[in-house]
Amino acid sequence: AVVRTYDFTVGWVNQNPDGLHERRVMGINGQWPIPTISADVGDQVVVNLKNDLRDRPCSLHFHGLFMNGTTHMDGVAQVTQCPVPANSTFTYAFNVSQPGTYWYHSHVDGQYPDGLRGPLIVRDPQNPYRNMYNEELVVTLSDWYHDEMPGLISSFLSVTNPTGAEPVPNSALMNDTQNLKIPVQPGKTYFMRIVNMAAFAPQYFWIEDHDFQIIELDGVYHKPTIASQIYVSAAQRYGILVTMKNSTASNYAIVGSMDQDLFDTVPEGLNPNVTSYLVYNENVPLPVPKNLTEFTPFDDINMTPTDDLAIFESPAVSLTIDLSMDNLGNGVNYAFFNDITYIRPRVPTLYTALTSGNLATDPTVYGLSTNPIILGHNEVVELVLNNHDPGKHPFHLHGHTFQVLSRSEEEAGDWDAQSLRNGSITFPTSPMRRDTLVVKPNGNFVIRFRSDNPGVWLFHCHIEWHVDSGLILTFIEAPLQLQAQLGGENGIPADHFDACKAQDIP
Ligand code: C2O
Repeated sequence: AVVRTYDFTVGWVNQNPDGLHERRVMGINGQWPIPTISADVGDQVVVNLKNDLRDRPCSLHFHGLFMNGTTHMDGVAQVTQCPVPANSTFTYAFNVSQPGTYWYHSHVDGQYPDGLRGPLIVRDPQNPYRNMYNEELVVTLSDWYHDEMPGLISSFLSVTNPTGAEPVPNSALMNDTQNLKIPVQPGKTYFMRIVNMAAFAPQYFWIEDHDFQIIELDGVYHKPTIASQIYVSAAQRYGILVTMKNSTASNYAIVGSMDQDLFDTVPEGLNPNVTSYLVYNENVPLPVPKNLTEFTPFDDINMTPTDDLAIFESPAVSLTIDLSMDNLGNGVNYAFFNDITYIRPRVPTLYTALTSGNLATDPTVYGLSTNPIILGHNEVVELVLNNHDPGKHPFHLHGHTFQVLSRSEEEAGDWDAQSLRNGSITFPTSPMRRDTLVVKPNGNFVIRFRSDNPGVWLFHCHIEWHVDSGLILTFIEAPLQLQAQLGGENGIPADHFDACKAQDIP
C-alpha cells in the first residue's frame, strides 16, 4: 500500500466539448477533462485541493467510497464539512478499501455539471476476473449544458417555471467529447469501466455488433452476465468485458443515447446521442450508427454478487419514504420526502452530531428540514421508497452499498408488504448490490443495508436539479460511536474549521 498524492488546483478553463458552444468550465490544474484519480486497494489517497475559482466555494466528494472512519472526508457541503472558500486550501485524506469503478465530484449544491467531475478507479490485484481481460478502458458518459449552473438553477427554481420542468441538456458526451476513437486490437478483451457523470440524463449504452459481459455494478463484483445494451443513470457505474472480433475488416460504433423520457419537452434539433468508435483499422471508414428508437436494456435486478452475500436478516429498522413533487404555495416547485423538502443546515450536520453529546440521537437537534434519520450501530435497515411522481429518479446512498430486494415496474404504486406474504413477490437469496438505483415512475423499490459505518450519510436523488429542489435525507448513523471515533483532539483536522470561519461558523 502506498500514499497517492494529488495536488489539484480547481479553476476556470474554456472548452467546447460538443463543438457547438464554447464556455468556461471548472478544470483542474488548467485542464479539462479533469484527471482520473487512481489507486490500488489498500492505498491511501491524499488530495491537496486549492480553490482557485475566485468567485465561489467548492468541495470534492468521492462517490461510492465508504469513507469508513473518515466521514468528515465525504466532501458534502453543510453535511460533512463547510465548502472550501475561494482562494483557500483543503486536504482530503482517506483509505481506499473497495476495488472498482467510482467517480469524484463537487458536492456543493448544483456545482458538478459545470465540469468538476471525473473518474476514480481503484485497481485490484485480486480482481476475480483479472484473467479474463487484457486491458482496461474508462468510458465516461455525461449530459452537457451550454449555460452555467447558477443561472439554470435560478430559472429552474422560479415562479416562471411552475411545472418544475428541468433544464434539458444541449448534448451528450463520452469522455467529455464526441466522436472519440478508441484504438483496439482484434481478439483482445477489454475491461471497460463505464461511469455516467450526468447532471440529469440517464443513457442507454451499447456497442454495435458486440455483446458484453457485465461483471461490476457500482464497485461490486457480480457474476458475469451477458448483455447487449445497458441503462446507466446519473451516478451509476458498470464494469463490462468486451471481446474484440478477430478481423480488422470493420470499425464499430459505441453509442450513448440520453433517455428523453425525462425531458418535459425535447428541444428541436437536440441530438440525444453521442457516438464513439472501436477502431480496429484506421484505413477503414467509420460506420454511421443505426438510430435506435426502441430500447431494450438489460435489467440488472437479477444479477448476483460474486461473493454470494446472503440477504440481510429481517430489519431492525423499517423506513417508508414517499417521494413527491409540489410547490409550497409560492409557485416554485420543490421535491419532498414524506412532505419535507431538504433545506441545508447552517452548521454541517456532522459537527452537530459531534458536539451534541447524548442529544445526538435526537433528530430535532439537526433541524427537521434536513430530513434527519438516526440509525443505531450494526442494524439492518430496510428502506421502502414509494415514488409518487411520474418521473424516474436515481437514488444514491452515501457510505454504503445496499441490497436491492425489489424494484417495481412503473405505475405499480406503493410497495405492498402483502405481495411478499402471498408470494407474488419473493426476495432474492443473494440480492444484487450497488449504491445508485433508479425508481420507476409511480413505482417503488425496497433496499436493505447494514449500519456498520458510523457517520453522516446522505440519501438523495442524483439528478442535480432534484438535489437543488430538496430531494435529500440525512442518515446520522451511530452518532455516539461517531463521537468516540472523531470527537476531540485526534478527530477532525484544523483546515475543516478554517473553511467554516468564512461562513462565520465557530
Ligand atoms: Cu455522487 Cu451525494 O453524490
